[in-house]
Amino acid sequence: MRQGGTSLLYQKRAVRAGYDMDILPSDLATYGAEAKTLLEDLQSRNERMFLVTMLVMNTAETRQKLENNVFQAAGIAQKYNCALRRLDYQQEQGLMSSLPLGLNQIAIQRGLTTSSTAIFVPFTTQELFMQGEALYYGLNALSNNLILADRKRLKNPNGLILGTPGSGKSFAAKREIANAFLVTMDDISIIDPEDEYSPLVRRLGGQVIDISPTSDQYINPMDLTLNYSEDDNPLTLKSDFILSLMELIVGGKAGLEPVEKTVIDRCVHMVYRDYLQDPKPEKMPVLGDLHALLCQQPEPEAQRLATALEIYVSGSLNVFNHRTNVKINSRIVCYVIKKLGKQLKKFGMQVVQDQVWGRVTENREARKSTRLYVDELHLLLREEQTAAYTVEIWKRFRKWGGIPTGITQNVKDLLSSREIENILENSDFIYMLNQAGGDRQILARQLNISPHQLSYVTNANAGEGLLFYGNVIIPFVDRFPKDTELYRLLTTRPEDLAEQQ
Ligand SMILES: Nc1ncnc2c1ncn2[C@@H]1O[C@H](COP(=O)(O)OP(=O)(O)OP(=O)(O)O)[C@@H](O)[C@H]1O
Ligand SMILES: [Mg+2]
Repeated sequence: MRQGGTSLLYQKRAVRAGYDMDILPSDLATYGAEAKTLLEDLQSRNERMFLVTMLVMNTAETRQKLENNVFQAAGIAQKYNCALRRLDYQQEQGLMSSLPLGLNQIAIQRGLTTSSTAIFVPFTTQELFMQGEALYYGLNALSNNLILADRKRLKNPNGLILGTPGSGKSFAAKREIANAFLVTMDDISIIDPEDEYSPLVRRLGGQVIDISPTSDQYINPMDLTLNYSEDDNPLTLKSDFILSLMELIVGGKAGLEPVEKTVIDRCVHMVYRDYLQDPKPEKMPVLGDLHALLCQQPEPEAQRLATALEIYVSGSLNVFNHRTNVKINSRIVCYVIKKLGKQLKKFGMQVVQDQVWGRVTENREARKSTRLYVDELHLLLREEQTAAYTVEIWKRFRKWGGIPTGITQNVKDLLSSREIENILENSDFIYMLNQAGGDRQILARQLNISPHQLSYVTNANAGEGLLFYGNVIIPFVDRFPKDTELYRLLTTRPEDLAEQQ
């Protein structure tokens, strides 16, 4: 009211002195109008007033280039009706203020309303930047900020890395492994069907276990860990596991018949009888013992199973008919199964997965997390029983402090049954790299992503894509510097490897 009164007084005085309202300088009229809108914004449109300092930092290699850059920046600002002022004699303060220190030493400020200030801060981009044991996953493609995330804080830390061949899946897995090794205290196990991970694991001082017909390192698929909680019978899961192995062995589309399953389950319970009474390592059964028991069963199905198993016991595929003779004493272990043939490779993957499960149960007692990386995961999802066992292991992993990561180029295999879909639905972490057309549509439907978001996984370069972390979805870019020792350990590109030779 008082304000209104004063301005009225001034107006009256001006009129008395012979001024006309219309001949006020136009600048003054404009400023007056602007001030009025500002006041209105603040009073009725829930806007706030911010004092803002805008700094544009220019850098260059030489003085000449710097002058050019400054000139160019000023030109761009001018185009939008803004003037940039050079901070002569205040350059140090300018530099300090433009660093992310939360410290402004420059006294030049402008008042801006909320909506005007918002233009300078991209509030619409989603960020993922966590403290603590967070790992690096690239730069946010929209804001260029670091993406740092801790999978352990997800409801379900299980993860998938999906992408077409050469899109950088294994590379991303290796980068996360190196990062996790250095930042966390977690144990790390890798199932490596292509022998790509051993250089990194060796460099980190880890163990590389070669499983092949010519190697003398053995892993016994019959190994049984007794560290289960009371309500879980160790034999139940083991029996499931042996069933899935037998399915791989017998092969065929139909899988195992009910009678065959019964016979196997019966023999599994018998074969561990001695060991369970007196659990000494030298009493651990091997496949040969199971084979002998199968031979003794009266059913003709048992004979069929025994014959199928024979080649794995006394025949040319007897790699897995030995007691385990490798001692895991390193935090990071890579199981290389490249030299196993096609059929034996699935078998080997399954066996290693089961071994790691044993490790998870041991680590739980020590309150330690276990990370498992399974490259070429789709190999495990093709047979019904093997897939079912894998799904079961993945479900259990979470409860027991395991963090599994599956790496695959075959999205369709992930959706081939309700059961396997479980893996996709229960993976709160998905690192999605470039996708082929068909898979893109499937994923869009399954994960509910927009056409715009899809554009980040369409014809994307290696190391670019979409990151799903819980319900946060962020496009990322990870351009790993090539002149580093780490890059040389991670790359599998033939040119890079030839250069190293
Ligand atoms: N983020 C990245 N930065 C730089 N180079 C990368 C990046 N990701 C991948 N590359 C390059 O691309 C090559 C192929 O990547 P990678 O071996 O991970 O592919 P892939 O998706 O696992 O393929 P495949 O399905 O055949 O196993 C790497 O060896 C590396 O040279
Ligand atoms: Mg790969």
